This record gives sequence, C-alpha cells and structure tokens, in this order.
Amino acid sequence: MKVNVSVEPEIGQDSLEYEQLENAVFKTIDVPGYLCEIGLRRGGGSYYMMNALKQSKQNLKKGLIAIDPYGNIDYESNDDDVIRQDYTNGMRDETIFIFSVWKIRNILLVMQMVFHSTIKQKDL
Ligand SMILES: C[S@@+](CC[C@H](N)C(=O)[O-])C[C@H]1O[C@@H](n2cnc3c(N)ncnc32)[C@H](O)[C@@H]1O
Repeated sequence: MKVNVSVEPEIGQDSLEYEQLENAVFKTIDVPGYLCEIGLRRGGGSYYMMNALKQSKQNLKKGLIAIDPYGNIDYESNDDDVIRQDYTNGMRDETIFIFSVWKIRNILLVMQMVFHSTIKQKDL
C-alpha cells in the first residue's frame, strides 16, 4: 500500500521578513522552553517558526504557543481614531482548520516514512 500526501495547506502571510523569525528560532537551539507568538493573524509567522523548529530538530522538545484575541475588536490608530481590522473569529476558525490539516499532513508523512523503512527492512 502506498500513501501519497501532497496537500500543502495555504497559510496566510502578510510579511516579507519571516526569515528574521526563522533565524531567531535557529538561535534558540540552546535555550530551553517554548516559543510564543503574540498576534498570529493567519499564522504566517507561526508557520515559519514551526518549520524552523523542525529544521533545527528542536520540534520534539520545543513547541510554539500563539496568542490572539481575534473578535474583530476595535484598535486605536495613530490619529486617535478607532479602527477595525479584519481579525475576525472567522479568521481564527480558518487558521485553526488550516493548521489542523498541516498537522495531520505531517503525521501522515511520518507514517509514510516509517512504513517505507519497514518495507525496505523486510526486503533485506
Ligand atoms: C499584523 S497581524 C500579525 C501578523 C502575523 N504575525 C503574521 O505573521 O502574519 C496582528 C495580529 O495581532 C492580533 N492582536 C492585536 N492585539 C493583540 C493583543 N493585545 N494580544 C495578542 N494579539 C493581538 C490581531 O488580532 C492580529 O491577528
């Protein structure tokens, strides 16, 4: 049986400087504890940081906690005006869904690798 996993969920991004986050994660290799992102929107930054955790093999001992109120709440702008962004609870739900798909996809990829290595060992 062959399981092909090719779904790459679209994580919303709004920055051109995510490499800085990646580099910061690589520098935390010797720092214990979790990472925390305050204000994740659609999770672009979180996605980069989690991939960096994985690449630097920190993901088994270190996770990421992301905090965001969403709720389409009022924000004070620089002109003392109150403005609303589009940080809605709908955005929260979509983000949770996308990350769940991403997580399941990663689990399936690991299962696929274990399955193939088991088959290879049997072939020897
Ligand atoms: C500019 S977006 C962040 C972009 C995100 N870091 C990325 O990588 O795409 C700002 C986010 O901060 C959230 N936010 C606003 N005030 C906050 C607060 N006091 N604590 C935590 N998050 C907050 C908003 O709901 C919104 O999702």
